[in-house]
Amino acid sequence: MSNMVPVKVYRSFVVVVLLVAVGAMAAPAEEKPTSYIVRMDKSIMPLVFTSHSPWYASTLASVKRSIAEDGLLHVYNVVFHGFAAVMTPTQATELEKSPGVVSIIPDTVAQLRTTHSPDFLHLQAPVGIWPEADYGSDVVVGIFDTGIWPESASFSDEGMAPVPSHWKGSCIAEEGSNTSFCNKKIVGARVFYASYEAMNGPINETAELKSPRDSIGHGTHTASTAAGRSVQNASMFGFAAGTARGMAPMARIAVYKTCWANGCTGADILAAFDQAVLDGVDVISLSLGIDGGTPPYYLDPIALGGFAAMEHGVFVATAAGNRGPSDFSVENVAPWLTTVGASTMDRSFPADVILGNGEVISGISLYKSDGSEEQDMPLVIASDAALGNNGTSSFVANLCTAGSLDPSLIRGKIVLCERGDNSRVDKGEVVKAEGGAGMILANSASDGEGLIADCHMLPATAVGARSGSIIRRFIHSNKSATARFKFYGTRLGINRAPVVASFSSRGPNPETQEILKPDLVAPGVDILAAWTGLSGPSTLATDSRRVKFNIISGTSMACPHVSGLAALLKAAHPSWTPSAIRSALMTTAYLTDSTTHIMTDEATGKLSTPFDFGSGHVDPQKALDPGLIYDLTTHDYITFLCSINYTKQAGRMVARQAISCPRNSGNPGDLNYPSLSAVFDQSSASALTRIFTRTVTNVGNARSDYTVQVVVPQGVQITVKPTKLSFTGLNQKLSYKVMVKAGKLSLGAGESETVFGLISWTDGSHVVQSPIAVTRQEPY
Ligand SMILES: *[C@@H]1O[C@H](CO)[C@@H](O)[C@H](O)[C@H]1NC(C)=O
Ligand SMILES: *[C@@H]1O[C@H](CO)[C@@H](O)[C@H](O)[C@H]1NC(C)=O
Ligand SMILES: *[C@@H]1O[C@H](CO)[C@@H](O)[C@H](O)[C@H]1NC(C)=O
Ligand SMILES: *[C@@H]1O[C@H](CO)[C@@H](O)[C@H](O)[C@H]1NC(C)=O
Ligand SMILES: *[C@@H]1O[C@H](CO)[C@@H](O)[C@H](O)[C@H]1NC(C)=O
Ligand SMILES: *[C@@H]1O[C@H](CO)[C@@H](O)[C@H](O)[C@H]1NC(C)=O
Repeated sequence: MSNMVPVKVYRSFVVVVLLVAVGAMAAPAEEKPTSYIVRMDKSIMPLVFTSHSPWYASTLASVKRSIAEDGLLHVYNVVFHGFAAVMTPTQATELEKSPGVVSIIPDTVAQLRTTHSPDFLHLQAPVGIWPEADYGSDVVVGIFDTGIWPESASFSDEGMAPVPSHWKGSCIAEEGSNTSFCNKKIVGARVFYASYEAMNGPINETAELKSPRDSIGHGTHTASTAAGRSVQNASMFGFAAGTARGMAPMARIAVYKTCWANGCTGADILAAFDQAVLDGVDVISLSLGIDGGTPPYYLDPIALGGFAAMEHGVFVATAAGNRGPSDFSVENVAPWLTTVGASTMDRSFPADVILGNGEVISGISLYKSDGSEEQDMPLVIASDAALGNNGTSSFVANLCTAGSLDPSLIRGKIVLCERGDNSRVDKGEVVKAEGGAGMILANSASDGEGLIADCHMLPATAVGARSGSIIRRFIHSNKSATARFKFYGTRLGINRAPVVASFSSRGPNPETQEILKPDLVAPGVDILAAWTGLSGPSTLATDSRRVKFNIISGTSMACPHVSGLAALLKAAHPSWTPSAIRSALMTTAYLTDSTTHIMTDEATGKLSTPFDFGSGHVDPQKALDPGLIYDLTTHDYITFLCSINYTKQAGRMVARQAISCPRNSGNPGDLNYPSLSAVFDQSSASALTRIFTRTVTNVGNARSDYTVQVVVPQGVQITVKPTKLSFTGLNQKLSYKVMVKAGKLSLGAGESETVFGLISWTDGSHVVQSPIAVTRQEPY
C-alpha cells in the first residue's frame, strides 16, 4: 500500500483555449499539388467496376482529367476505405463532391520523436510476467519506424519456435539482393513511401535505402527495446555495459518502414496500419507524432488507423511527444491509443566540469574519455566568440549554429553553448569543426534542469540552466578562466528515480480535457538498444563511428517499452482487449520514486502530477495480475465521439460506420477509462457537481471483495457509491459511481486550476488505482 500516499498536488496554469492544431485543418494557401487521404463509401461503388482500385482511379481521374491508376499513392482496404493521391486544393474541393467520396484530408507530416530497463522494471524474476507470457513468443509487434538492422544480435532467431500460425504477413526482398529480411524473429518487413515521395520528392537512394533496412537507427533502437533478444556484453563505448534485452524478448517483430530522412507522412502511416492489421499484428508501436501537435481525431491518421486497429483487437502504443515541460503539449491523445511519457532510471553518466577556481559543476556525458581531456583548458562563452563580431557578444552564436563562431576565438578552448535551434550533437560538431577543444552544453531557462546525455564528437558535458549561469558568471569575472572535465562513465543507483523527464510532453489533454493524458510513463532517458550499421551514434553525417548499441532518449524510447509489455500481457491473457491491457498497465502503475515520495519533475525538481505521469510509472509484474480491469468496446468509443458533439460526418470518419447519437450523449468523462477527469466551467449557473459511472471487470479471484479508498484533493468532495464491490465470479462486471462536488474558486479570466486525488479499490492483494483530476476554469 506504499503507493497510497496522499497526492497533495496543486498546480495552476492558464488555459489556452484554441490549442487544437489548426495547421492540419488549414487548406494549403497556394495551388501546390500535395498528398491527400480520400475516404470512400465502398457500398455505393457503381456495378461497372469489379474492384475498388479502378473505381478510385476513375474518381480521381474525373478531377485530375487524366487517366492514370498509378496516380493512386495507396489504396486502403482494411482500416479505412479509400485512397491517397496527389492533387491541387481546387481538385480536392472538386473531388469532395464526387459520388462515394466521404471525406478528404490533406496529408500531414509526422516526426520521430537497454541493458538496464528490464532490471529496473523487475522483469528478471524467475516467476512472473516473462515465464507466464513465454517471453511473448506467440505475439507479433508491428514497429512503424525507420526500418531495422537485421544483422543485430538483438534480432537473432536462434532457438526460436516456428512463426505463430496467425501471422499472414511477409517480407519484401532487399534491393540489389534477393535476400529476405525475414527469419523467425523478424517475421514481416515492408516499406511505405508513396506519399512521402509525393510530398518530399524522390528519396535519395545514395543516402537512404528504399528497403526495410534502417539507415537512421531509430527503428532498430525501438524494435529492440520492444522485442530484442538477450545480448550479453552490450554497451556503447563501454557505457551502460550489461546484457541488453527487449521487454518481450521472444516476441516477433514486423517492420513497417514509414519514416525517412524528413519524417513520415500520414497517408503512408495509414497504409501501414492497413497492412499491419491484415498481416495479423497483435501490437503496434508508433514512436512518432504529427507535426504541429494534435489535430482533431477525425483528421489525425494515427487516431484513424488506431481506431480500426483497436476494433481488430490490436493494442496501439504511441509516444506522448517531446514538447515538455509545457502544459497542453501531449500528443497522440485519442482515448483508444495508449499514450506513453518518458521517465528516468537509476542509471546515469556523470561528467563534471571543474572550473579554474575549483568549483565543481555536475553534468552528464556519453563522451568516451581517454583521460587526456581532463586537463585545464581556456574557457569561452560562445556568444563572446561570434564570427564577425570581433569578440563582442552575439545571441545567435550562443547556440553554436554552423558558421556562427570565430575559429580564432575558440581554438583550443572549451566553448559554452546553449540548447535551442540546432540539435545538441550538431553544436558539438560545429565547435569541433571550428577548432574548439571541448563543449559545455547548458540548458536554456525553458529547458530547466533536465539533462540529456549525447554521444558527442568531442569532449563535452551537458549541464542545467542554473549551472550555465554560474559558468557564465565565472567567465565574465575572470579574464583567464579555465576549466577541465572529469568523466565518470556509468553509475547506478546514485540518482533519485524515476523522475519525469523534462522533455516528456504534458497534459492537460489539448483535445479532450475530460480524458487524462499521458496514460503512463516508462523509461525513456538514456536507453541502450540496438543500432544500425549505417549511421554513427550521434546520427551526424560526419560521424564515421559505428556502434552495435546506442544510448538515446525520448518518448520514442518510452513507447516501445510499453509496446513490449503489452505484447507480454497479450501472450499471458490472449482474450484481453487493447483497453483491458491498457487498464492493467495503468491501474497498477506506481507514483513514487526510490525515496518512496511522489515522483518529481526533472524540469523543476517539484512534485509531478498526473498531467506529467498519467496513472504513474509502469509496473509489469503487477500489470500481469491487476485484479480488476476497466474494459471498453467500440460502442463505448462511439458514445464518446457523440459526447464530444462529433457530427455524423466526423463520427463516421473515425468509426468507419454511420453513428447515431442519442439526444443526450453525456459527458466525454463518462468513457469507462481507468483514470478520471472532471472539468468544471465556473460560469455555469449550476453547482459544480459531476457524477461518473465506472464499470470494473473481475479478472482476479472469482470470489473477492473490493473496498474503496479515496485520496480527496483539497477543497473538493468526492463520494464513491457503493464503497464495497463483492464479486462472485470471474469476468463479472460491477459498477460504481463517483460524485465530485467542488466549490467555485476565485480565478482570473481564462485561468484554471486543477487538483488531483486517487480512487483505489483493493481486495487486500490487488490495488486498482485511478488518478482523478478536478479542474475548475474561468472563461475569458
Ligand atoms: C534475384 O533473382 C532473380 C530471379 O531469380 C535473378 O534474375 C537475379 O539475378 C537475382 N539477383 C541477385 C542479386 O541475386
Ligand atoms: C544524396 O546523398 C548523397 C550521400 O549523402 C549526397 O552526397 C548527395 O549530394 C545527395 N544527392 C542529392 C540530390 O541530394
Ligand atoms: C563478456 O565479457 C567478458 C569480460 O570481457 C568475457 O569474459 C565474456 O566471455 C564475454 N561474454 C560474451 C558472451 O561475449
Ligand atoms: C581565475 O581563473 C584562474 C584560472 O582558471 C584561476 O586560477 C583563478 O583562481 C581565478 N580567479 C578567481 C578570482 O576566480
Ligand atoms: C579586433 O579587436 C582587436 C583587439 O580588440 C583589434 O586589434 C582589431 O583591430 C579588431 N579587428 C577588427 C577587424 O575590428
Ligand atoms: C456538446 O453540445 C452540448 C449542447 O450544445 C454542450 O452542452 C456541450 O458542452 C458540448 N460538449 C462538448 C464537449 O463540446
